[in-house]
Amino acid sequence: MFISVVSATSRRSSNTRLIADTYLSILQSKGHQAQIIDLADVPSDFIGQGLYNGKSENPSWKSMQDIVNASDKFVFIIPEYNGSFPGILKVWVDGLQFPSSFKGKKGGLVGISDGTQGGALAMGHFADILNYLGMNTLALRPRFIQIGKHLQEGKLTNAEYLKFLELHADQLIAF
Ligand SMILES: Cc1cc2nc3c(=O)[nH]c(=O)nc-3n(C[C@H](O)[C@H](O)[C@H](O)COP(=O)(O)O)c2cc1C
Repeated sequence: MFISVVSATSRRSSNTRLIADTYLSILQSKGHQAQIIDLADVPSDFIGQGLYNGKSENPSWKSMQDIVNASDKFVFIIPEYNGSFPGILKVWVDGLQFPSSFKGKKGGLVGISDGTQGGALAMGHFADILNYLGMNTLALRPRFIQIGKHLQEGKLTNAEYLKFLELHADQLIAF
């Protein structure tokens, strides 16, 4: 089983990436093959015509699509941007092959925010899209509120949050 951990923002040095790295370490410590897909690596011309033209000749996009094709399961680490998920996440999904990228596969969601929602709406909005695309999603959706208060020197310091990531990883593996 191969699991992709999607860091769902194009913002460099994001808190989302730190949580994605933590999740990856948990999966690897449990002996699972996993890899990060960082949406900061989506080709920059994808917000223009690159999304529609010449994708298959773009080597960095091709390797991203190859990882998606090879993945059996996904976990999406989703930051809350303007009450929903970041636009780059939808751009990425719109660029991927349809329906093979997600149909019949399984996925989980983890939300983070600076405010007090923890990406609750963001995860709901994105889960609707995943379900439309034929992916089954895990019921457990951890919401990490006020994330900035729980990170120190690039590490997640909140023991409860860490426990939820462990639980989520166990459930995703068994899903
Ligand atoms: C464009 C943008 C919009 C944001 N909108 C919200 C929001 O609606 N609610 C919230 O609690 N935090 C919001 N934030 C703060 C992020 O949730 C916060 O930066 C958190 O660390 C996750 O984002 P990051 O991975 O980019 O660091 C926003 C941040 C950005 C960059």
